[in-house]
Amino acid sequence: MARAAVVGVGAIGGVLAALLDSTARHEITLCTRRPLKELTVKTPDGVVRVKTRNLTDPAQAEAVDWVLVASKAYDAESTAQWLPGLTADGAPVAVAQNGVEHRERFAPWVKQEQLVPVVVHISVDRQADGTIWQRGPARLTVEEGRLGREFAELFRGSNSEVVVTEDFKTALWRKLCGNSTGTLSVLAKKPFSAFKLRDEALARVVLEMALECVAVGRAEGAQLDDSTAQRIADGIMRGTGDRANSMLADRLAGRPMEIDARNGVIVRLGERHGIATPLNRMAVALLRAEGC
Ligand SMILES: NC(=O)c1ccc[n+]([C@@H]2O[C@H](COP(=O)([O-])OP(=O)(O)OC[C@H]3O[C@@H](n4cnc5c(N)ncnc54)[C@H](OP(=O)(O)O)[C@@H]3O)[C@@H](O)[C@H]2O)c1
Repeated sequence: MARAAVVGVGAIGGVLAALLDSTARHEITLCTRRPLKELTVKTPDGVVRVKTRNLTDPAQAEAVDWVLVASKAYDAESTAQWLPGLTADGAPVAVAQNGVEHRERFAPWVKQEQLVPVVVHISVDRQADGTIWQRGPARLTVEEGRLGREFAELFRGSNSEVVVTEDFKTALWRKLCGNSTGTLSVLAKKPFSAFKLRDEALARVVLEMALECVAVGRAEGAQLDDSTAQRIADGIMRGTGDRANSMLADRLAGRPMEIDARNGVIVRLGERHGIATPLNRMAVALLRAEGC
């Protein structure tokens, strides 16, 4: 049994809480900004309702054994207000966010040896009524090590796969390559699956944008080759590439977006390595110029 707190109970946090709850082994606390009467998650196996302790004020937070942060990257600073109380006994903090900078993002508030970056492979939408719709299987990837294995153990018995890998950097960058090209659909304000024209020109832009990420990721030490980018472009052309794009959902709802975590980082690190990233740079510039 572990006392686990989920900070940020949106699409991903909701699914993580439902998975932990399904093990019937943990005492779960949901940390939200607004009161949450009940958490309802539509999963591939049916509807799950989680009724558990809900806190809305970081001042109420008490020490737990594990903290799972599932806010957007741009909300790191506000979610960090929960951490002093929740980690009072030194609990590890798993950060389930996109991008490759989980450690840097939370460095001001969490000791590196307590921090567990998580690559999330779950396609989830949060609907207007607050219902969370998990559209496919849940896979989480963490780094090999004591905390990575303990994180996997938390989810034992749930309908999820937790991969513990020696080569976490590659897992991070492979996910970013897909996420970075999703920004093209954010610019178009519709999912790739709604594009009428799936022609070679679009495939070429997706491929070249993903290749920028591959090049920067490789310079950072990820084991990626150009086939990673090709697979992303092929998936988008087949209409299977973006079942849920949380950045598109944010743009359509007028919320802030993870532009820096998904594309800005490629531009910034590309500059450091002398690698040109014109498509990512253009995407960042256009969205910023629109005030996003
Ligand atoms: N959705 C997907 O399919 C998917 C897939 C893979 C990875 N990801 C990544 O997972 C991360 C989370 O994405 P998401 O789609 O789950 O986002 P989301 O649905 O917007 O959920 C984020 C939640 O964090 C909450 N939050 C923000 N600041 C908070 C604070 N100070 N205290 C408590 N709660 C706070 C938000 O509260 P409010 O409800 O009050 O706004 C919201 O419920 C992102 O990095 C995303 O890129 C998402």
